[in-house]
Amino acid sequence: MTAVFTFNRDPAKFNLCKKLLQRRTALLMEKLQTADHGVSILFTDDQEIGWMNKQYRNRDGATNVLSFPLNDQDSLLLNTISERELGDIIISVETAQKEAVEMDVSLHHRLTWLITHGLLHLLGYDHERSEKEAEEMWDLEADLMQELYTSRSTQMTQLAINVDHVATIREARGITEPDPVAAASICELAGAAGIVVHLREDRRHINDRDVRLLRQTIKTRMNLEMGANKEIIRIALDLQPDMVTLVPEKRQELTTEGGLNVAGQKKKLAKTIARFTKAGIPVSLFIDPERKQVKASLDIGATYVELHTGKYCDAVSEETQENEYQQIAEAAEAAYQMGLRINAGHGLDYQTTARIAALDTIEELSIGHAIITRAVFVGLDQAVREMKAIVRDASMVF
Ligand code: PXP
Repeated sequence: MTAVFTFNRDPAKFNLCKKLLQRRTALLMEKLQTADHGVSILFTDDQEIGWMNKQYRNRDGATNVLSFPLNDQDSLLLNTISERELGDIIISVETAQKEAVEMDVSLHHRLTWLITHGLLHLLGYDHERSEKEAEEMWDLEADLMQELYTSRSTQMTQLAINVDHVATIREARGITEPDPVAAASICELAGAAGIVVHLREDRRHINDRDVRLLRQTIKTRMNLEMGANKEIIRIALDLQPDMVTLVPEKRQELTTEGGLNVAGQKKKLAKTIARFTKAGIPVSLFIDPERKQVKASLDIGATYVELHTGKYCDAVSEETQENEYQQIAEAAEAAYQMGLRINAGHGLDYQTTARIAALDTIEELSIGHAIITRAVFVGLDQAVREMKAIVRDASMVF
């Protein structure tokens, strides 16, 4: 049996990932040894939870969570539960949202806490009967949350900016302006947490001079994107960026088209990762959001995976976009459970970024084209600040 989730508003409106909450609920139920039981969870607003609070508990006003055990006895401990259904949990997303802001945590994190709290109530735990019982409940709750804790739960998603396309404009004229080195500084001043550049084999935009100067001037973090080819590996080892992201590279493509097939070239990639690891440079692998690729990345010693968001961004129907989004959320959760660190990027723009930033398993987004194109009209400083506001609002404040 499992948890049945009902949303009385579209979860996408809250940038919520239903599957992620379901997966965490299943994990919690497993830890509480109730995986073979069922529970219904309704996500609603302040008005409805306020009505229920009055109707069933004779209390005024909205609250964050209500629990209604099916077997409503005073002391309902785990081993006495005979019913297969534990009962109902009602959560006000509106209140959870306000609490998340006050506590500086993501909405997903706050909702996970409220689900934990509700489940414990359904199992007979209580914090109002006595101090001793309250302590027992808070301790268990804290232990469970600790086990589910994600490193990003209490931090904002980071925004790293790819300045390749400043160099693309420069190369269109074959002169020295605009300079991606100057662009990187402006991005940092506007709040970027890192700078990304792709040194391509054909040097179509970023060149050797750029990466050398960027290494000297970047004050945040330098993420060097590259194909796993001999010459570029040698340059990267000499340059010592803060991290490298290995991507597939084809000369004819306009931009990186798909993720690396890690599962299909484990040996070669493992060797490259080992060289960077030995030099103290963490490696990220740019992959499609598939469990098989995540697992292969773990097997060969990657520190990060960067999940390809291109299909989600390019989806032409809402249904396809939702499916692609769920795949990203699931791949991120799987990677997180395996102990990998997770970045995401490609094709993200001012519309598609918020939902990805809301996933608290993802540490950093790498965004280029949308920001540089907006900068043409509003200036780079403003384009970065606007994107940063979207990322910040989606990752903590709704
Ligand atoms: N991540 C990777 C691995 C990429 O290759 C690119 C494109 O250079 C990006 C992120 C950024 O994509 P976009 O320019 O579409 O934001």
